[in-house]
Amino acid sequence: MLSNKASWFSTTVMRAVVVNKFGGSEVLEIKRNVPIPKPKENEVLVKVAAVGVNPVDVYIRSGNYSKLPTLPYIPGNDVCGTVVHVGGDVKNYQEGDRVCSFRTSSGAYGEYTSICSKYLIKLPEDYDFVKGAAVGTPYLTAYRALIQKANFKPGQTILIHGASGGVGMAATQLAISKGMNVIGTAGTEEGMKMVRENGVKYVFNHREEGYASSVMSATGGQGVDGIIEMLSNVNLARDLDMLAPKGMVLVVGSRGSIEINPRAMMGRETNIQGVALGSSPDEDLREASLAVEVGLKQGWLNPVIGPKYSLNDVQQAHEDIIHNTGSKGKMVLII
Ligand SMILES: NC(=O)c1ccc[n+]([C@@H]2O[C@H](COP(=O)([O-])OP(=O)(O)OC[C@H]3O[C@@H](n4cnc5c(N)ncnc54)[C@H](OP(=O)(O)O)[C@@H]3O)[C@@H](O)[C@H]2O)c1
Repeated sequence: MLSNKASWFSTTVMRAVVVNKFGGSEVLEIKRNVPIPKPKENEVLVKVAAVGVNPVDVYIRSGNYSKLPTLPYIPGNDVCGTVVHVGGDVKNYQEGDRVCSFRTSSGAYGEYTSICSKYLIKLPEDYDFVKGAAVGTPYLTAYRALIQKANFKPGQTILIHGASGGVGMAATQLAISKGMNVIGTAGTEEGMKMVRENGVKYVFNHREEGYASSVMSATGGQGVDGIIEMLSNVNLARDLDMLAPKGMVLVVGSRGSIEINPRAMMGRETNIQGVALGSSPDEDLREASLAVEVGLKQGWLNPVIGPKYSLNDVQQAHEDIIHNTGSKGKMVLII
């Protein structure tokens, strides 16, 4: 039950994107009469201001993902907005709080969403909603990879392979804040500039032949201690040759298969580690969320925003995130 305080609810319906069947971007339909979700006692209802678009939104919409929602569904998970109702069992949040999240109960691409309080990230007062929409999945994934799975330490050298994208930029900022030495890659001059502007000295173009030798030269031939990999199906074999002894590749993104030579891992006793934010236990998600809240307060966590789309242009946003010609920061839907 929504509280009586929510008397401003002049309507019980909202505008949202609804998917009735898996398929191309044309299955994203904007509806005006979608019921406003009814939050449970452990949930809050959020008036959504902006939504981060993630590649996984597209994989799910197209039906090519291991866990698919029941149809019909509202896509997305990375939301930012204002709490407008607090369930009876929720502590620490109140109406008017600015929050973001990486996991909703009812979907993100709509005017309202319900979110379990354990998946909320509190934003500083007056924090920009558009930036807030770029926090959840990218920064939690970066934390999962760099800290929870790899436990990289200050002084280690990490290659962020795809530093210009949402997760890559988050990983870059997090690694630098923890005292790691970052080498980054991007696919365009604009992307490389963005990575440099975020404090990375050695930035290479992953679309140019021979960039792997430049990475090796930047480490004095030693190789890197870790690689955060956004496109493993293209890079994994080459990554293994860029690792220092005991180094680790974190498989964050992959869009297909690749052949590797396991022998490349033997001499230097290197590792390949999978990363899945969706499989992280709740206590790990809470730890990562608290680290992100600290980053927001300290200011090292500062999302770079790329193209903004209105809800009407959601189909275009889904085309662009997969077929873009070079990342220019986090893609955001304005609700
Ligand atoms: N495992 C998880 O839990 C998890 C969580 C979130 C995301 N992901 C996955 O991680 C990947 C990145 O997500 P995102 O949100 O950062 O996407 P994004 O914002 O679209 O960024 C994609 C990044 O990949 C880079 N890239 C393109 N071609 C590359 C290549 N040949 N080698 C290295 N990098 C290349 C892009 O660089 P340019 O555009 O500059 O070429 C860009 O930096 C996606 O596959 C996504 O599904 C996984």
